[in-house]
Amino acid sequence: MRIAFCCTHTKVVPWMAQMATLIPGAQIEDWSIGESLSFGQADYAVVWAPPAKFFAQQSALKAVFNIGAGVDSLVNNARLPRDIPVVRLDDAGMSVQMAEYVCHAVIRFFREISLYDAAQSEARWQFLKPQRREEFPVGIMGMGVLGVRVAQALRSFEFPVNGWSATQKSLAGLQSFAGLEQFSAFLQASRVLVCLLPLTAQTEGIINATSLAQLQPGGLVVNVARGGHVVDADLIAALDQGHLAHAVLDVFRTEPLPADHAFWRHPKITVTPHTSARTLRDHSVAQIAQKLLAIERGEAVQGIVNLQRGY
Ligand code: NAP
Ligand code: GLV
Repeated sequence: MRIAFCCTHTKVVPWMAQMATLIPGAQIEDWSIGESLSFGQADYAVVWAPPAKFFAQQSALKAVFNIGAGVDSLVNNARLPRDIPVVRLDDAGMSVQMAEYVCHAVIRFFREISLYDAAQSEARWQFLKPQRREEFPVGIMGMGVLGVRVAQALRSFEFPVNGWSATQKSLAGLQSFAGLEQFSAFLQASRVLVCLLPLTAQTEGIINATSLAQLQPGGLVVNVARGGHVVDADLIAALDQGHLAHAVLDVFRTEPLPADHAFWRHPKITVTPHTSARTLRDHSVAQIAQKLLAIERGEAVQGIVNLQRGY
């Protein structure tokens, strides 16, 4: 079996070494060195944002494995083969990280920790009136692998949780909204908005002036999906006008976020460098190896991307 790695922004040597221990006898090479493989055509590809010329050259692939949950950069690749399974990471240790990150953002906001930070900086012993969690309903856009885990974590802190997805969900303690026809009702029922959608033609720019205006006032936006979901100027306007109280942003239209971008210095914006749920190598290689071997045996696997939908 011949496996090609083609991953931009990733040091693939340890990935290849781990893959070799899980699939003994496989020939494994990094296509990016020399833009070719000593064995010519690979059977399987492990990729992150590969160039179109990789697929143009590799015409014998049986499946493509993406080393991330999001496939927006992959599905837009003009040369991606459309007749073989394209498999994305299915949790692989990301959902617990996402739950930590989002719960931290929501609880920090709800418990007004930034005001206590300010009080401490002045050695001021100051109590704040407790807020009512019933007044902080959290709306999660995207109730997939990550969104569901985040919803469950927030429910464990007894926040009211609304979920919005393409299809209706039935989850204990969750108010489910589905499709564009229920989008306004979902926004109006939420004060905190968490984005865990895939970036597709339907979801691009979904956090905009119209959607933000429908959220309950004094709210929080947490974007942990893709920067393309946010219309940057509309988010800043909603914060400046006071309708929105704060935004926690982990993902941006241009990454790294340019040093002169207004988000860096906005007093109501928290920026982190696309780190809310990191790809964990051990979990990811194990998952890819297990699925690759299952496909080789002709078995069905989870996490195959629907290329029509784009996620
Ligand atoms: P997933 O399992 O594919 O879930 C996607 C969810 O979005 C599904 O519930 C889907 O609805 C919903 N959805 C898609 N298009 C929609 C639309 N037009 N309207 C309403 N709902 C729609 O994906 P995931 O594994 O949870 O990951 C979600 C995203 O998180 C990824 O695509 C990636 O961009 C991002 N991510 C970010 C990081 C980070 O570090 N910041 C890490 C990992 C992932 P249905 O269930 O009805 O199909
Ligand atoms: C990270 O952003 C991913 O899509 O896995």
